[in-house]
Amino acid sequence: MVNIDKAQIVSRMRQLIQLLAKHNHAYYVMDEPTISDNEYDQLFHQLKDLEQQYPDDVQNDTPTQRVGGEALSKFNSVEHAVPMLSLGNVFNREDLFAFARRIEERLPNQHVNYDVELKLDGLAISLWYEHGVLVKGVTRGDGETGEEITQNVKTIRNLPKTLHHDIAAPPALLEVRGEVLMPKSGFEKLNKINEVKGEKTFANPRNAAAGSLRQLDPNIAASRPLAFYAYGIAQCEPANDLETMHDSLQWLTQLGFEIAERQFLCQSIQEVQEKYDQIQQERENLAVEIDGMVIKVDNLKQQKQLGFLSREPRWATAYKFPAVAALTKVEGIDWQVGRTGALTPVARLAPVLVGGVTVSNVTLHNIGEVHRLDVRIGDTISVYRTGDVIPKVEKVWQELRVDDLQETILPKSCPVCASPVVMPEGEALARCSGGLYCAAQRIEAIRHFVSRKAMDIEGLGDRWVESLLHLELLKDVSDIYHLNKHKETLLNIEKMGEKSVQNLFNAIEASKKTTLARFIYALGIRGVGETTARMLANTFTTLEALRKAESEALKKTPDVGDITAEWIADFFQAEHNIEVIDKLLESGIYWDAPSASTTQPLNGESWVLTGTLTQLNRDQATQMLQALGARVSGSVSSKTKCLVAGEKAGSKLDKAQKLGIRTLSESEFLALMKSYGQTPN
Ligand code: IVH
Repeated sequence: MVNIDKAQIVSRMRQLIQLLAKHNHAYYVMDEPTISDNEYDQLFHQLKDLEQQYPDDVQNDTPTQRVGGEALSKFNSVEHAVPMLSLGNVFNREDLFAFARRIEERLPNQHVNYDVELKLDGLAISLWYEHGVLVKGVTRGDGETGEEITQNVKTIRNLPKTLHHDIAAPPALLEVRGEVLMPKSGFEKLNKINEVKGEKTFANPRNAAAGSLRQLDPNIAASRPLAFYAYGIAQCEPANDLETMHDSLQWLTQLGFEIAERQFLCQSIQEVQEKYDQIQQERENLAVEIDGMVIKVDNLKQQKQLGFLSREPRWATAYKFPAVAALTKVEGIDWQVGRTGALTPVARLAPVLVGGVTVSNVTLHNIGEVHRLDVRIGDTISVYRTGDVIPKVEKVWQELRVDDLQETILPKSCPVCASPVVMPEGEALARCSGGLYCAAQRIEAIRHFVSRKAMDIEGLGDRWVESLLHLELLKDVSDIYHLNKHKETLLNIEKMGEKSVQNLFNAIEASKKTTLARFIYALGIRGVGETTARMLANTFTTLEALRKAESEALKKTPDVGDITAEWIADFFQAEHNIEVIDKLLESGIYWDAPSASTTQPLNGESWVLTGTLTQLNRDQATQMLQALGARVSGSVSSKTKCLVAGEKAGSKLDKAQKLGIRTLSESEFLALMKSYGQTPN
């Protein structure tokens, strides 16, 4: 009986682990979440609860224990048992056919099939599995010796921590080789987040993957959307009976590995060339960056017969896409202001043909990169393009610098609105401080202002905003409240019927009655999200008081750190922001002044929910707490005011008890909420 229960528990744990791994991959790697965060948390908690109840059965690939390893001070060097070799290159049809000829001459009277794979542009690593369990991850290094990065490798979400196997036992030893990279979508998202946070952005996915994999702190590595794609087996004990590359990769997928999104089996070298041409077309639409194809003899016995020539296999080659570079002159350096106010330097170039495309601009990313390259107006530079169309600076030819060229410096004022440019210490990006006033930041400011959690103006979607900006009817957010003066113009905008214009006016009118918290949030002050806005509203109770608050007073507000306090103070010091706010208030926006009954009893307190709640769900509990001014946090710390412990509460309850933090059962919690007039909705 006991055994059956145990089997059921383990099987439920396995089911949850696989489900979580799938959703993790969709979320972090593909950037296409398939379930809500809340649902994910619930699955995660179910697994954690099970593990707390049955600690002996905790599976070693559980995601609950994956992250949180200690930061390392350095990586250990490891010698590769089987060297990680490099590949020869071919760049054109002639070279490719010559490669095939050499092979076919060495294999007289044999038919050769070619396995054609993507040449993934990431970092090669090697993974060791002992009896199906991932025990070691090593970088390629110089091919003979690499660095042990096991902790970081374990944070890669699409990589099996234990091999999936149905019937047969997993091999005693399996060494799998493949590439770690950051899919394009995850890379763009990471750069966007870093840009908003004022942190370093990466020039390309390869650099981002390399930087992430070599993080000494696995928690940072874990937050990066890395993926692993297997492309070969270096060792397998006992030996398997696989005969071809194709079967090998298929087998790896059965063990739980992901392989690249395209792979072909070609009967002839002509067919290989066709696939190369095809992939060059499709390259832009692939989820990952590639820099060519890898052509391998498919049959493993034939591979053995062909062997190696010095450090390269005779049975494989890289067929690179042309990376093209050209020399040109920097004619100017402009600073573009993005929607978030970030200033990006762009070099204007004497137009030059690079791989069939005329290039006349190239981004220099940020002021740090400008300094690193020491690029100046008048310099000669080489620009290159790989397949991804976007040109990049390869090199600044300082030896070709003729006169004393002026060093490039960050402008002091915004090229769009002339507001001061700021670059807080420790941040990588310079920004325009113009906020609501800067034309470049308008569309983002408006989008935020009308969003559901801000002024909630339904119907003012991106398309309308763009048209209205174009017609200069929206210079800043306060113009929204004067749109009714332009009814005729609005009616003339494509597809805007009488009814939709009227609906928009109604939504604008209805938005005038709001709350102080929403209004503060709608202003789009850097660092002020919904919760912070609520805390500010509760603490200062009037806009006037908030406007005048010094940063010292702001810092005392729950949820407001030192940097955010400075940002808030800066925002209210900028004259044009005050002008916009005054115009908004003049147009009739109002909120009920907080009275004694609306000052919130749990203002600023940090609460934690844990365990399974039976009479309400977490969202409902969170909403009630937030309505009373509390913040709901995911982890217990000395700042926690109170812990609500549902059924099967585990480590958070232990920690709270150790720290002497007040804990409430679900029914005590409900009773307390009721005493404040809160019931689950
Ligand atoms: S096979 C002995 N397959 O290319 C051959 N390599 O120069 C082992 N690479 O740094 C390599 N995609 O990381 C192979 N589908 C693929 C690949 C691939 C990218 C990289 C590999 C290595 C370089 C070889």
